[in-house]
Amino acid sequence: MNPTGLIKNSLAHLLENNRAWSKNVSTSRPTFFPNLAQQQNPEYMWIGCADSRVPANELIGLLPGEVFVHRNVANILPHSDLNSLSAMQYAIDVLQVKHIIICGHYGCGGITAVFQNRRVGLVDNWLRHIHDIKQKYTAVLNSQTSDHQSIDRLCELNVIEQVKNAAQNTVIQDAWARGQSVTIHGWIYNLHDGLLHSLGLEVSQWEDFEQQYEQAMQAISTCA
Ligand code: CO
Repeated sequence: MNPTGLIKNSLAHLLENNRAWSKNVSTSRPTFFPNLAQQQNPEYMWIGCADSRVPANELIGLLPGEVFVHRNVANILPHSDLNSLSAMQYAIDVLQVKHIIICGHYGCGGITAVFQNRRVGLVDNWLRHIHDIKQKYTAVLNSQTSDHQSIDRLCELNVIEQVKNAAQNTVIQDAWARGQSVTIHGWIYNLHDGLLHSLGLEVSQWEDFEQQYEQAMQAISTCA
């Protein structure tokens, strides 16, 4: 309810949706909210794009409390980004998640803008990281038969590079050094059919990435 009673809430339909959802869940699972309010105990961390079409919980069929989510434009994990590093540190050290899923998606607006050298605004600075990947893999991207295919490859290559970044930061390196089991997975999501695909990366120690990299590079074009 609006506390002042004077301003009509233009998002009343969303609050109504919420009331209905809460009632639904409480009716079917009376202990759900009381239990969740005590603590969260997720086994998974999801790192994905902020794109409204790629909602973590829905895609993998998990309820609130079951996946710890960090999303940003183009699912990037820059080495010095305190936001994503802090989210990973909390997930690994405090929540003790067992799996970190780094999920890209085809048709990513940020990645498409980079491929087309299109200026968007301030976000272009964030997307510089994608420009670096584009430059690194010029040969792969140039060997594709269409721009559409090249953009698909760039979306996949970005996931591979972010799995690498995730496997190199101090948070995960320290966790592995003390024997904590955390596996980083590289996935990509297809907007056209709602399906997730593994890019063949399941990294539980740095050596895994070194061993799986070549195979992942060979396999990328089979997902789209
Ligand atoms: Co995106």
